[in-house]
Amino acid sequence: MRFGEHFLDELKQRVRPSDVIGRHVKLKRQGREFAGLSPFTNEKSPSFFVNDEKGFYHCFSSGKHGDSISFLMEVEGLSFPEAVEKLAGLAGMEMPKADPEAERRAAQNKKTVSWMEQAQIFFAKSLMREVGTDARDYLKQRGLTKTAADDFGLGFAPDSFNALRDELVQQGARLEMLVEAGLIIEPDDSAREPWDRFRNRIMFPIHDSRGRLVAFGGRAMEKDAKAKYLNSPETALFHKGKLLYNYPNARKALAAPKNGARGLIVAEGYMDVIALSRAGFAHAVAPLGTALTEDQLALLWRAGPEPILCFDGDKAGVRAAFRSIERALPLIKPGQSLRFAILPEGQDPDDLIRAKGPPAMQAVLDAAIPLVDMLWRREVESEPLNTPEQKAGLKDRLYAALREITHDGVRDQYKTNLLEKFDANYGWTKRYSKSTDKAPRKASAALKATMKETAIEGARERRLIGGIIEFPELLPKVDQALFELQFNTQIAQDLQSALLIYWQQTIAVEKNAIHAHIEAQGLEKLLRELRRDRLLTMATLGGRDADLDTRTALWLSEADAHMGKYEGDATRNESLSRWAETIRDDKTDALKRLMRASREDRD
Ligand code: UTP
Ligand code: MN
Repeated sequence: MRFGEHFLDELKQRVRPSDVIGRHVKLKRQGREFAGLSPFTNEKSPSFFVNDEKGFYHCFSSGKHGDSISFLMEVEGLSFPEAVEKLAGLAGMEMPKADPEAERRAAQNKKTVSWMEQAQIFFAKSLMREVGTDARDYLKQRGLTKTAADDFGLGFAPDSFNALRDELVQQGARLEMLVEAGLIIEPDDSAREPWDRFRNRIMFPIHDSRGRLVAFGGRAMEKDAKAKYLNSPETALFHKGKLLYNYPNARKALAAPKNGARGLIVAEGYMDVIALSRAGFAHAVAPLGTALTEDQLALLWRAGPEPILCFDGDKAGVRAAFRSIERALPLIKPGQSLRFAILPEGQDPDDLIRAKGPPAMQAVLDAAIPLVDMLWRREVESEPLNTPEQKAGLKDRLYAALREITHDGVRDQYKTNLLEKFDANYGWTKRYSKSTDKAPRKASAALKATMKETAIEGARERRLIGGIIEFPELLPKVDQALFELQFNTQIAQDLQSALLIYWQQTIAVEKNAIHAHIEAQGLEKLLRELRRDRLLTMATLGGRDADLDTRTALWLSEADAHMGKYEGDATRNESLSRWAETIRDDKTDALKRLMRASREDRD
């Protein structure tokens, strides 16, 4: 251990927790303590307390508790030594001397980083100069403004073998240093001069989890370049499997009280991260051109319990998603899982946002599939399932996957869930064996997988969605609630996003148009399935003749009941109370009677 007890004690004594925490949370004195809004949840009234005498904070809404060091680790995403270093900086304390070798390395790294920073300045300038004209046009054509380029520190490496080298050498850099930083390439035969690694490329600075500039990614300007993206080589500071593009910013954004998401969004490329951020999803990161590593998963989970991985809906995308399952299974535990957002075929988040706007992206994220469902899909799709042997093979594969899960409780839950799916689709209870014997297609595979759950616990979800399909005039009234509802069944999730996308694109809501839209999304089967219950759904919403206010209140009370399942979740409770307010505002007694009646019906 690098820090002695003594050093840590002194450090904690010197800095008041309220000063450290006060940099992130607005604190108000309350007797011996300070109170503020939790930085971990979305709460409206303060339940986060800091006690300087005892040297800790306690957050009642998230249950988190700790001292200044753990606070910095949580909120700024620092590792323990990083948090200590930061605190020592705030306290004006010298860090304890490490061994001389480590000391030398640290000094060296600092120098490397500062040359990387000089390089970034040079790239940024070049982008603004004459040589950067084409690059600026390119960025503009991709929809990037100057502000976006500035926010992400974008730059341009001129089409030259020595522009950067000459510039930095002139500033006093030694060539070995620049080679070590990965900025220039040493030739095999020493007769030649070393040359610039990045030429004629748009430059993306890459920071490690502490926010140090440690690498660059460069996107080729020419269409037929050998590598579309070229990254810095592995250096003493840069290990591409150990960091995520945009991690420090994304983590901060996720921790912001208003964010409310349950984890980072993981896209595939730098451009996607930038597009996501600009569309309001600032909590987006990307690995650097490889499948997610364990280290990267750990970073994701440090920021939030349920990151969403985005994948292209084409074959390669789905295969990549399956690979992440492999990585994740041994590591999942309560509060540490994944979801999968599958984008329309051939589109990445950048494409989708450009084509359809942020709400379309939001809908895709809302429809993200839990890990367990993605695992089911992987096993169902890996082999044909026509014969008894093949079905038994599926069961074997499910058991093999279950064995990968190391957490006992989670494994049990997965077992129950997967075997239920198996029974519902291939067990003796299976009623629709004919249709599932064909190769599963698109949404219907996942739909069938969850058919049984749908039948039992999904009735309300179907009423909520079905209600809007029967009475589309509800849409403008309840759009916010519909947007926030969390559905568990695939049918409801798919139709929820279809409805939201429709709503986003439409001016006048119209029933036939909704149906056409849903069919155009390839969901007509779901629609038919839903419409089987329409009489019941209509009855729940006051029958054919109810007026719009009554119907709205009835729908909201259904939604309210649905949200009741999420007690304890701050975001949910907040929406719940907002709806309760809406309902309260509707004052007629008749309405209240109706609501009560519908509630009693349900219980
Ligand atoms: P993509 O080819 O999907 O890039 O690679 P993209 O982000 O959609 O790029 P644009 O939109 O054409 O500019 C995704 C990521 O894979 C890595 C990069 O990190 C890139 O952001 N990659 C890709 C490489 O490292 N090398 C390559 O040649 C291509
Ligand atoms: Mn792209």
